[in-house]
Amino acid sequence: MPEIPAKSFFITTPIYYVTAAPHIGSAYTTTAADVLARWHRHRGENVYFLTGTDEHGQKVMRTAQKNGQTPQAFVDSLIESEWKPAWDLLDIKYDRFIRTTDEDHIKQVQEFWQRLYDAGYVYEGEYSGKYCVDCEEFKSDDDLDAEGNCLVHERPAEVITEKNWFFKLSEFGDRLLALYDEVPDFIAPTASRNEIINYVKSGLHDLSISRSSFDWGIKVPWDPSQVLYVWIDALLNYTSAAQIYDDPEQFAKIWPATHLMSRDILRFHSVIWPAMLMAAGEQPPRRVYVHGYLLVGGKKMAKSNATAIHPREIVGTFGTDAYRYYFMKAIPFGADASFSWEHLHAVYTDELANNLGNLASRVAAMIGKYFDGVLPSPGALTDADGTLADLLDRTVRTADVAISRMQIHEAIGATHDFVTAVNGYITEQQPWSVAKDDSALARERLATILYTCAEALRAVAVLHHSVMPSTATKLWESLGAHETVGALEAQPISSAADWGVLKPGSRVVKGDVLFPRIEADAEVGA
Ligand code: MSP
Repeated sequence: MPEIPAKSFFITTPIYYVTAAPHIGSAYTTTAADVLARWHRHRGENVYFLTGTDEHGQKVMRTAQKNGQTPQAFVDSLIESEWKPAWDLLDIKYDRFIRTTDEDHIKQVQEFWQRLYDAGYVYEGEYSGKYCVDCEEFKSDDDLDAEGNCLVHERPAEVITEKNWFFKLSEFGDRLLALYDEVPDFIAPTASRNEIINYVKSGLHDLSISRSSFDWGIKVPWDPSQVLYVWIDALLNYTSAAQIYDDPEQFAKIWPATHLMSRDILRFHSVIWPAMLMAAGEQPPRRVYVHGYLLVGGKKMAKSNATAIHPREIVGTFGTDAYRYYFMKAIPFGADASFSWEHLHAVYTDELANNLGNLASRVAAMIGKYFDGVLPSPGALTDADGTLADLLDRTVRTADVAISRMQIHEAIGATHDFVTAVNGYITEQQPWSVAKDDSALARERLATILYTCAEALRAVAVLHHSVMPSTATKLWESLGAHETVGALEAQPISSAADWGVLKPGSRVVKGDVLFPRIEADAEVGA
């Protein structure tokens, strides 16, 4: 039988501007992409997870100058001292960290634009317009206030008059509208989709794709006196990493990508980017998914904002897994939200320490106390045991469907509800009372109750592994599953609800407390 190739899942984050350290906003997209990548790996798919940094353009150049460094030295040091360590701290398992200064990217970007130039999609013209360096974007009057300030950054846009190269973006309006129509979930959620459809219907202008007044960028291949506009260099990171020209076979295997971002950069990804790919005769991305903003004082948290919070402030007190759980479960994916230490503390205490942590330690302690730490063989199942197994089956399906719909919080919420149900099962079954009776029948019932709980926890480890990798691993190992079932990474989501996977006789150990109590006044950020 010919081997059926695994389904591919290529997930990306925006490549972030390296003007400062990351904050919980950039970490939010990156964590979400990591959770999705890990979940799809548990489905057995061929996953490629890409993140990285956007290093060219005036915004980065000016920030480097303010810091008295060359742009290259400035970005090199920030990436090594801040960006990569932040993603390590958050347990982000990317396949590649691409930088727009990487040689293979530069080469493939030049090849891409040379092809578009050769195909007649690029022409020379003069442009005069208002440019916001913070957005790295020309602005129309609608994007500016009465004083000429950019509405996003509340700073004046600069008037630029230059001879530039232009991309015939205006030719792609009908094809873009046809794409949005044929692939209804190409842009999601719906509000974002509608916004873009209206924008494209109002008519597209050609796009200036080069700059001649500074040189921190990739040289225009047919006109080295100019550099490519930072956005049309940056968007191509996705196809460069997929090796569009360097390894077309690899590209065919993993393209098209699912792009995650917030609404600030939706137009670039859902209009300019697919149009560029159409011009090059390539498939557009699979999907552009917009999540909400993390707000401070009602405004989007930004690197230029003094109130930006670094992930380490939170991880220092609550740990990496609780950080990931909080942002992915407590904030509906798609909605704006304000971060609050009080909310984080409440979620940590109620859902992690009291619900999941307590369940794990109770079950291991009882197997230790009543069966010397050896997982007992279950006897006949009662209705209550069967109800729990059925609920697990529904939980796995709900969570898996939620992930396909990018509703990460719903997937995690389903597992959390299951944990609550298992705690309820223990309260009802009262294993401590059953243990007072030495009869063979009671011993068998006690064995069944505790085996049922251990099986439930085994499935929770698989379901929570994508969001809390170390906690799930600790749980898996405390059940002895690493020795008797295999590696946690290798457990398919599709069989997470199979019942009876744990081998009776496995050694169950009560490890360290999964979520130690944190005093309410400790939320100062260590
Ligand atoms: N360099 C461009 C992206 C090029 S992609 C080809 C850029 N960089 S950025 O550093 O400004 O990143 C913007 C993205 O970071 C947002 O779209 C979002 O994914 C993430 N976030 C930045 N601040 C955020 C919040 N306050 N809240 C949620 N997401 C945030 O634009």
